[in-house]
Amino acid sequence: MIRIATIFALLLGLCSTSWADERTQKAIDARQGLLKVVAQYFGPIVGMARGQIPYDPALIEKNAGKVAQLAPMIPDLFAMDTSASGLTSDAKAGIWADYADFSAKAATTTERANALVAATAEGQGATMKAFGALGASCKNCHESYRQK
Ligand code: HEC
Repeated sequence: MIRIATIFALLLGLCSTSWADERTQKAIDARQGLLKVVAQYFGPIVGMARGQIPYDPALIEKNAGKVAQLAPMIPDLFAMDTSASGLTSDAKAGIWADYADFSAKAATTTERANALVAATAEGQGATMKAFGALGASCKNCHESYRQK
């Protein structure tokens, strides 16, 4: 009987470990998915800045608006500290050591995406300047919190 109880305890332990891993993997997939969506909206504006696709302020206004809606979700989707999980991700452990700073960096991205929406009414020069500032806010967070 003791042996059976031990086996059950072991099985339970195994199940709860893989259940925890599954939850953690889902959290990682979700946050990476969010940033992929952000990049989908951001990408065409990069193409315009490089002159690879024609300048289209209406599309910039729309896409920057989407980034402004998505960026506040970044802190939400990084709420789970996955740093000790051993699962593959480019997120640095520092996120959860200074979650307030990480959240502030996401808020800066939101502000700058909104500023880019507004700048589209002021011509191409102002728009591209505002886009540069938005891109710098992505880079600023990546430099601190994303592995190369
Ligand atoms: C508050 C911090 C923060 C901001 C702001 C931020 N990112 Fe990231 N980004 C990260 C972190 C951390 C990762 C790594 C996530 C992981 O691997 O779990 C990442 C990953 C990514 C990825 C790779 C996703 C994948 O796994 O395929 C892309 C693309 C990306 N970011 C684009 C952007 C763009 C574009 C912006 C600006 C509009 C931006 N990010 C703003 C923190 C940020």
